[in-house]
Formats: sequence, structure tokens, C-alpha cells
Amino acid sequence: MNRLTGKTAIVTGGANGIGRGIAEAFAKEGANVVVADITTRERATAVAVIEAITQTGRSVLYVQTDVANEQQVQAMVDATLHTFGHIDILVNNAGIFTQSLVEDLPVADWDRVLNVNLRGTFLCTRFVLPHMLAQGSGRIINIASQLGYIGGREVAHYSASKGGVIAFTKALAREVATRNVLVNGIAPGPILTDLLASETEEWKSAKLAELPIGRFGEVSEVVPTAVFLASDDATYYVGQILGPNGGDVML
Ligand SMILES: NC(=O)c1ccc[n+]([C@@H]2O[C@H](COP(=O)([O-])OP(=O)(O)OC[C@H]3O[C@@H](n4cnc5c(N)ncnc54)[C@H](O)[C@@H]3O)[C@@H](O)[C@H]2O)c1
Repeated sequence: MNRLTGKTAIVTGGANGIGRGIAEAFAKEGANVVVADITTRERATAVAVIEAITQTGRSVLYVQTDVANEQQVQAMVDATLHTFGHIDILVNNAGIFTQSLVEDLPVADWDRVLNVNLRGTFLCTRFVLPHMLAQGSGRIINIASQLGYIGGREVAHYSASKGGVIAFTKALAREVATRNVLVNGIAPGPILTDLLASETEEWKSAKLAELPIGRFGEVSEVVPTAVFLASDDATYYVGQILGPNGGDVML
């Protein structure tokens, strides 16, 4: 507890799934949290995360944001600074998923998945990073996927976006580590969220059959990795991609 006292964290896609788990855990550790999600604040999961953070005694700012939209990202970062005065942690978690063989993949699906997962990670980083560099400290945690390493049938666009997130994480980490901004990533395996629920039964059965641990993961099995990377325990982690993945990838 209290590993993030006094910090301000932005969690994109924080209204549901893994992002929601991270946002709530950061607040329990003492951080004020900005939840930047495309869904309205009236949605049940958004209401729940706002309530959960408020109950910890920390402050929450909910900013409806499409991370693929430059103006909205800039406005979200401005609102964060206006409210809290500083940004210490950015978790680029917002991500979407569709499923199709490449030969049938709508070009619009390719564009949207790349725009949210990869461009969104870049945009949020682009507008937060100058503030972290100016204050001489910061942590950026990018949520990739094990599919960014191994790929997956019917998810070439998603795999490409996550491979891009992994490469972006490593490249950025090299640029800013000496200036005390530490950039790392998490590449989860299949985790029980709405995103996983949207995959076909065939896809899920095939994935389950090849998973060494023999089951899908829980959000609570990813969240501690994000808390760790944001905390003072992770001061020598630079450009690392940590893998709570049930053994789907062993590096
Ligand atoms: N669940 C898994 O199996 C799994 C595995 C590996 C990686 N991931 C990654 O973890 C991250 C979180 O996924 P999840 O499983 O919690 O998904 P989820 O669908 O449960 O939650 C995603 C959240 O992101 C928000 N979001 C979607 N598009 C957005 C946009 N353009 N701007 C801002 N917010 C947006 C959604 O509204 C939602 O609240 C994603 O990057 C995903 O690719 C998930």
C-alpha cells in the first residue's frame, strides 16, 4: 500500500477490463487517477471505477477521450494538468480488437485497430512526455499483447499493432531513460475481459488448448505488474516487456 502516494496517473481505457483494474489499484496505492476512456461517464463500468477510486479517498478525473484523436488527447492532458498540476504515470492501455482473416479484413478495421492501439499510444505519449521530461521524472507503461510477439490467426492487424507497441516502447525507453523517464510494457496473455469475450468460440478453444497453464487469466493477475512498474521497486527497468501470459510466450 501507498507505493504511489502523491502521484498522478493517467490510465487510458480505464473504464473497463484491465485498465479499470489498474486505475483502481493505483488509487489504492495512493495515486490520483485520470481515467481517459472513449465511453461516456454514465456507462455502468465508468460509474463503478469512479466510485471505487473515490472510496479510496483519492481524486478521480474522468475525461471522455478517443485516444486516436489528437485534439481530444491534447485536451485530456491539459485537463489533467489543470486539475492535478503534474503527471507522473501514463498507462497506455486503451485497445480494441476485431477478428478476420487478412484476405477478408476490412481496410477500415485495419485502420481503426492501428489508430487506437498504436497511434493512440503514440499520441498520449507525445503530449504527456514533455511534462515528464520538464519535471525530470515519469513512468510510461504500454499495454501490448503476447500476440505482438507470436501473432495469431485472424488477428494480423491486432498483432501488428501490438508488435508496434512493443517496438515503440523499446525505442522510446532508449531516448528518455537518462532523463529519468522510464518506459516499459506489459504483454498479457488472454485475460477474461469483454475484449476476450468478443473473440469467437473456435479461437478461444484453440488458444486454450495451446496455453501451458490451461486457463485464461484474470485482470487481477495483470494489475500487480502495472503497480510494480509504476513504483519505486522498478527503478532499473528500462524498455522491458513483462509477460503475465500463462506461458503463451516464454522469452
Ligand atoms: N483481454 C485480453 O485478453 C488482452 C490480452 C492482451 C492484451 N490486452 C490489451 O489490454 C488492453 C485492455 O484490454 P481489455 O481486455 O481490458 O479490454 P476491454 O474491452 O475490457 O477494455 C478496453 C477499454 O478501452 C476503452 N477504449 C476502447 N477504444 C478506446 C479509444 N479509442 N480511446 C479510449 N478508450 C478506448 C474501452 O471503452 C474500454 O473501457 C488493450 O490494449 C488490449 O489490447 C488484452
